[in-house]
Amino acid sequence: MPTPNSPERKRAPRLPKQAPPRVAPDEGDLDDVRVAAHDCKACPLWANATQTVFGEGPEQARIMFVGEQPGDQEDRQGHPFVGPAGQLLDRALRAAGIERGSVYLTNAVKHFKWEPRGKRRLHKKPGEAEIGACHQWLERELELVAPELVVALGATAARALLGRATPIEANRGRLMPLHGGMQVLITVHPSYLLRMPDTAREEAWRRFVQDLRIAAPFAADSRRA
Ligand code: URA
Repeated sequence: MPTPNSPERKRAPRLPKQAPPRVAPDEGDLDDVRVAAHDCKACPLWANATQTVFGEGPEQARIMFVGEQPGDQEDRQGHPFVGPAGQLLDRALRAAGIERGSVYLTNAVKHFKWEPRGKRRLHKKPGEAEIGACHQWLERELELVAPELVVALGATAARALLGRATPIEANRGRLMPLHGGMQVLITVHPSYLLRMPDTAREEAWRRFVQDLRIAAPFAADSRRA
């Protein structure tokens, strides 16, 4: 099986057609990369965000979860998945038998994209250019954590990881190869469940937990030697 540095490790898909400014350092550990990401201005999103929200979790995690972008709470607090979607993810992880502290959590885009609506900041979906500009950080996280399994939460994460638009419903709930000997599991984003009508939420929750149970065996022995 290819290791992170073996010659068989395939190249990551290249996302942006036009290369964004390269700011992710090629060397250093996760903390060095986190510090460099703090000042990232590779796309315009930094200007309206409070801060860069970088990934968190053990560097030896066997599973990495990738969401879309920080939300309002994550932007204020500086940590991924601490708002309503994160709390729902926590409950789903528990139901699937996965300890949150054993996994690495990050996002495809590391700044909050939003538009004002009265006093509120409404989430805006990141575009191709922003996903492309931020890809360098995600790639560095993948290289340094080198998880065995990456869970893509929703379409933006799947797009960033696979380098192409990948329909969620047709691809969810099965292990697929990713570059570098990693595997990817696609499922829905937890905020999709938050937006559902009550009548459909129970079934959507059941399917979400069922998808996450596929990841659970990877978490069983979360720390590698
Ligand atoms: N949604 C995401 O995709 N990521 C977060 O960190 C929070 C909400």
